[in-house]
Parts: sequence; structure tokens; C-alpha cells
Amino acid sequence: MVTMEKIVSLCKRRGFIFPCSEIYGGFANAYDYGPYGVELKNNIKKLWWEKFVHQRQDIIGIDGSILLHPKLWEASGHLTGFNDAMVDCKECKKRFRADHLVKKIAGEDMEGELEEMTKILREKKVRCPDCGASDWTEAKNFNMMFQTEMNGIEDKVYLRPETAGAIFINFKNIIDSMRVKIPFGIAQIGKAFRNEIIAGNFIFRTREFEQMEIEYFINPEAKWESLFDEWLNLQEEFIMEIGAKKENLRKREHPKEKLSHYSKKTVDIEYKYPFGFEELFGLAHRGDFDLSQHSKYSNEKLEYFDAENNKKFTPHVLEPTFGVDRALLVALLSAYNEEEIKGEKRIVLKFPKEIAPIQIAVFPLLRNKPELVKKAKEVYEQLKPEFICEFDDNGNIGKRYRRQDEIGTLMCLTIDFDSLENDDLTVRDRDTMKQERVKIKELIEYLRNKLS
Ligand code: GAP
Repeated sequence: MVTMEKIVSLCKRRGFIFPCSEIYGGFANAYDYGPYGVELKNNIKKLWWEKFVHQRQDIIGIDGSILLHPKLWEASGHLTGFNDAMVDCKECKKRFRADHLVKKIAGEDMEGELEEMTKILREKKVRCPDCGASDWTEAKNFNMMFQTEMNGIEDKVYLRPETAGAIFINFKNIIDSMRVKIPFGIAQIGKAFRNEIIAGNFIFRTREFEQMEIEYFINPEAKWESLFDEWLNLQEEFIMEIGAKKENLRKREHPKEKLSHYSKKTVDIEYKYPFGFEELFGLAHRGDFDLSQHSKYSNEKLEYFDAENNKKFTPHVLEPTFGVDRALLVALLSAYNEEEIKGEKRIVLKFPKEIAPIQIAVFPLLRNKPELVKKAKEVYEQLKPEFICEFDDNGNIGKRYRRQDEIGTLMCLTIDFDSLENDDLTVRDRDTMKQERVKIKELIEYLRNKLS
């Protein structure tokens, strides 16, 4: 079983993900994406956009601002309700999520029930995970929005805690400028910021992260149940396309009594991380809450005109939401393999071909033979416009294979002495490690067939 330690170490060693501000001692459980991490992340986002925007006539994309009008957060309820429960250990002064501590004991979510949480922590003498004491403050609400200031604006300004808000406030622009017909969706990918009480588990919970969200607008009178199931299946399908196995996924429906008053149904898709089943994606039926609230606070009508039935209405919305960083973590966990080859350990990331950060690595067999290096560079130059390639002449060939396996490169191409005679090269497949000779003039066609 892959552990988080193995993933974290490989990510740093091989240039996927680095601790943020490491030369200053690290910062706030945050991470920076390195050269292979950013390729992987871009591929995941590209796959998502392709699946949900380019391949669908009913969904269009936007890219909204991170800093939005402060009134938006009043209307959406984030100012008063976007809270997590915090509790401090009186002994060591460390701060924790009260609901997480209680969940470990009582095994259930207790969002919002502050008094009950305080009671459980004290009566069950829950120990501080840090110092072991059992002396807690009262559980209190903590608003998770990051606040900032803006020249010329008197109100407090916030970094958006989710991308969804920018979609709702562009509803009218989309209706007025595009020829959308209900049901239709608006999609967006972008950064979100939450002042989490505790960030942790690597990139699972950070304070700055990315989301891929869709607001899918439907007729309030339409049957939504089958659409809801369809969206859940699509969310599962997407994570399986980037490598997750079905047996590591499960759906958790939020109990009816814990749903917001406007929501008809909310389901989390959970993944079995090394630290247990936790949320990966979510799907919520949000009724007409968002459009109605923004309409009320902005005095703009946010309605849809159904020309066929000559009727105006405020659409309801289904909200499938995907975390980019959690998807990337799942891609890494799913791809990680350790194999034993002739008594030696091989670590290989078996990413699906659509998301592998590097598709092809080109090597000269020996770096001190200029004729091999020259030919390998020619091949690399030829492939570069079409494929994501890397030229590698560092260390011996065994080391290069090991490095390329660890970053999940799909194919390694080696120019050797026979290549100079026969104008061909060796192609080595990442998963089977089988090698075959391919003529250089047939190479591009060969790679197109293998990689498309
Ligand atoms: N608009 C709905 C919404 O934001 P959410 O469940 O709060 O719903 C959506 O967040 C997704 O964003 C989650 O399913 C998760 O993948 C990701 N996410 C939320 N908080 C995160 C955090 N602190 N770090 C990384 N990803 C996070």
C-alpha cells in the first residue's frame, strides 16, 4: 500500500511538489508545484475542460475574478455562515477543528453544533493530539474567508472561498450574450482560498487551492433525480479517467436533517486515501437559492425566459464541484507502483497517457559520443512540436530509465550505435518495459498511434 510519506518524498525528489517557502523554513502547510507537478495539474484541468466544456454543447466556460464585490458574500451567506468549529488546547495553545476531534470519538459529523461538541470533548476527556492534555476551550465558530483591502473600496474585500460565486454573478451576462437553452451549465476552473483552521495531509487540505466547478441550471419543474445521478456518475467517471480504481471510491449522502434549507440533496464522492475515506468531490442540488439571493441583493432579475412555453422562471441548479489538488493527489496515489525487477525495486508512476507529465524522453546511449548526442537531439527537435518531450543524457541508461519511470514518462527512446547505421532507435514502454526498434522516418506515425 502506498503511504503519504512515499508520495511526499517522491514529489519533492522528482520535482512534482515542493514545500512552499522552504528556504524560510516552510510556510503554513502550503505547497508549490514544480515542473512535473504543473504539467500534471495542467493535464488534469485540460482533460476536465475537454470532457465538460468542449465535448458538450450544453456547457460553456468562464474565467471570473478572484476578488469579487463584497456584497456577493453577504448574499451567498458566506459572511455569516462559512464557518468551521475551532477549539484550543488550553495547555499547549494549539488550535484544532472541533468537529474533526469529535468525529474521531463519536464517529459522526457535527457541523454547527458547538455546545454539543464542547460537551463531548470535555465529558469524554478527548486528548489533545499534540500534547495529550485534556483541557479545552469552548468550541467557537471561525469564519474561513481570507480578508484583504483594496484601494478605493471601504468595505472589507475577500479572496473568493470558492469559484462558484463568479459563475452566479455572470448568469445574466451569459443569458444576454450566448444562445443558451435550459438545461445548461457554466464551468470554471480557478483558485479558491480558505483560512482553514488546520491544513494538512499534504495537498489534501491547503489554504490556497484550485477548484473545477459547474453550475448546471435546470427547469424547477424538471425531474432532477436522474440528472443528479448522471452527474454523480460523470464525476466518478472523470476520476477513474485519471487513474482511480472504483473500489477506492464511495458516495456519502448528507443526511436530510443536516442539509441547508434550500438543498434537496447533497452527496460527497469520497476516496480511500492512505489516511482513510475523505471527500474528493461533491454534488449538491442548491434549488434557486443562489440566483434568488443575488437577485435580491443586486436588484437585478436573474431569470430565464422559456420561449417555447412563454414562461419566465428562476432556474434551479445542480452543482458538481471538483478539487484540482485532490484529483491530482488521487492521480499520484493511483499511479504509484513498486515492482521488483531482477531483485531491484522499480518505482513507477503509471499515469494514464492523457495526464502523464512527460510523454517521451529521448536519450543518446552514451553522453560522451557526439554522434549519438547529435542524432538524439535531432530526434528530440523533431518530436518537440507535437509531443511533450524531454532530452536526457544524465547518468547511465539504467539511471535515466529509473528517473523517467518515477515521473511516469510513457516512452523512452534511445539512440545507439545501430541507430547511426540503420536510422532507427529503441522505444521502451513504461509499463511493460518491452523494447522495440522503430525506423526514425516512421517514428511520428508510430507515436501518434500509441499516444492518441
Ligand atoms: N461550491 C461548492 C464548494 O466549494 P466544497 O465541498 O466546500 O464545495 C469543493 O469544496 C471541493 O473543493 C471539495 O470537494 C474539495 O475537492 C476541494 N476543497 C475544498 N476545500 C479544500 C482545501 N482546503 N484544500 C484543497 N481542496 C479543497
